[in-house]
Amino acid sequence: MAFQDVPSRPIWFDPASEAVQVIDQRRLPHQLVVMDLSTVDAVIEAIVEMVVRGAPLIGVTAAYGVYVACRTAGHIDDDRLRHECARLRAARPTAVNLAWSVDRMLKTLLATPPRQRRAAALALAATIADEEADNCRRIGRHGLPLIETVAAKKDGPVNVLTHCNAGWLACVEYGTATAPIYAAVEAGIEVHVWVDETRPLNQGARLTAWELAQRGVAHTVITDNAGGHLMQHAMVDLVIVGTDRTTATGDVANKIGTYLKALAARDNGVPFYVALPSSTFDWCLDDGLAQIPIEARDPDEVRYVQGWADGRSVRVLVPPAQSPAGNYAFDVTPARLVTGFITERGVCGASPEAIRNLFPDRHRPSAQI
Ligand code: MRU
Repeated sequence: MAFQDVPSRPIWFDPASEAVQVIDQRRLPHQLVVMDLSTVDAVIEAIVEMVVRGAPLIGVTAAYGVYVACRTAGHIDDDRLRHECARLRAARPTAVNLAWSVDRMLKTLLATPPRQRRAAALALAATIADEEADNCRRIGRHGLPLIETVAAKKDGPVNVLTHCNAGWLACVEYGTATAPIYAAVEAGIEVHVWVDETRPLNQGARLTAWELAQRGVAHTVITDNAGGHLMQHAMVDLVIVGTDRTTATGDVANKIGTYLKALAARDNGVPFYVALPSSTFDWCLDDGLAQIPIEARDPDEVRYVQGWADGRSVRVLVPPAQSPAGNYAFDVTPARLVTGFITERGVCGASPEAIRNLFPDRHRPSAQI
């Protein structure tokens, strides 16, 4: 669990080898393995197979993927650049950060002479990574008062429930949902985190728990179905989750099971916050249920569980071998169940007007709100 020399980011460029390197998140928490992404195919496979995952990190990885395309092709021409960008953009469907970062890279590079594209791509990918890290730092700053307010009203720790992994592994640094938690802990507030295990791939049990343990934050891993019970017994003060795509009207796509947490939170009067950088808003959409594509993944991710036994990684079958399984990776929580958004610009309510007031420059008239 505790490794020496954990990289400070889940992705980086190594100038000596000119390689893009990532932490292989499939191996955590039991093994810390670094992987080179040296071809566009390798970048796409890393996103599809969830070597890297989490909306902001998928976007940053795809940006570096565009750099890899430029490096591999020499002086890449417009057609090839467009083709490689389209392939990267299609790697996963739900997190809008992927399309957002690839489109940003493409727009800049098409306006750059081919012989300068490689250097420009590397510089812009690094800028996007730094911006996402800074966005998360600001999300932490803006979310801190929400935790401070709870702490001021009670004895004992502030109990935060989170789902999936919206930590630094998903976001370059700090995380989105975890940034206010880290800020609160730094401010001396006692915080305890309920970590949903997040079946089928257990991003909560494997990744969020590992991150919190590394930073000495008190936490307890719970089954995905435990949150409602905890809320009924006043054991959750607030829920903070991340998101893969949020509409201009405030509908939130996030890891499957988030919607059920929002329903339980509403039934029990528990505030339900969504932390996100502006790159995760889809300014063109106004109806999350109808318009956000929900990824369906390999049913074997549900049928088998991956774990660690006797010093090695093992994969075991749970249901009867002949039972089919369904693997819906995300769900949509309607805006009416969301208390507010914690963004790099501040906290706002989950209404089209509140979102537009915070981001008047990003709002697209095409969104019918
Ligand atoms: O399938 P994943 O692991 O990529 O899903 C990740 C999530 O659902 C996260 O909650 C979301 O990307 C927010 S990350 C800041």
